[in-house]
Amino acid sequence: MKNLVLVDHPLIKRDITILRDRETNHELFRSTLGRISSLLAFAATQDLLVKEVRVNTPLERTTGHKLAESIVLVPVLRAGLGMVDGFLEVLPEAKVGHIGLFRDETTLKPVDYYFKVPKSLSRSVVILLDPMLATGGSAAAAVTFLKKKGAKRIRVVCIVASPEGVGLLGREHREVPVFSAVLDRKLNERGYILPGLGDAGDRIFGTMS
Ligand code: PRP
Ligand code: URA
Repeated sequence: MKNLVLVDHPLIKRDITILRDRETNHELFRSTLGRISSLLAFAATQDLLVKEVRVNTPLERTTGHKLAESIVLVPVLRAGLGMVDGFLEVLPEAKVGHIGLFRDETTLKPVDYYFKVPKSLSRSVVILLDPMLATGGSAAAAVTFLKKKGAKRIRVVCIVASPEGVGLLGREHREVPVFSAVLDRKLNERGYILPGLGDAGDRIFGTMS
């Protein structure tokens, strides 16, 4: 799994446990997802280029840095929305596109319903956000859409990855790295990740009952 970067950190381990816990309500789930997203954002942006700028401190003039690349975040609706604020905490200058996809519950294939991204895609580092990489069908389809719109430098950030999903993305989009908090065991017969955290969209938005 050369395309997978597992982000290992004590704070991430703590947060993934809160997200997995079925007793965690939607309020705590949402805030924890936001926080773990900021931690992942730190890891997923480690290679961004910076350029030198001059800055005046209250005492003297010195050299500082600003990001040399523009960033576009693209959450996959719905569950990817839960990661956007955490990313924007550390990347306030990012633009945000949206891709609407849901997984047909019978075929497990992604069905698209919305696509709106900034025009600057080809000149930007594009970060696809979706907490769950299960069969990988949704992420692979989203990356294909982004490439059609000109994106060249794409990375995927998820919270829970499955071996099946990482494998599919690696086969279809070999050059796209996947950053994840954990790599889980496998999918069940309904395409849910085991042990996983359940249906991410339902847990963020409180729509399971
Ligand atoms: C979930 C999740 C991913 C997709 C992952 O979305 O947020 O987008 O499933 O599954 P895959 O890797 O097998 O494609 P879902 O289809 O449940 O839509 P929702 O976020 O609107 O609930
Ligand atoms: N989508 C989810 O939200 N959870 C899974 O385990 C698989 C797909």
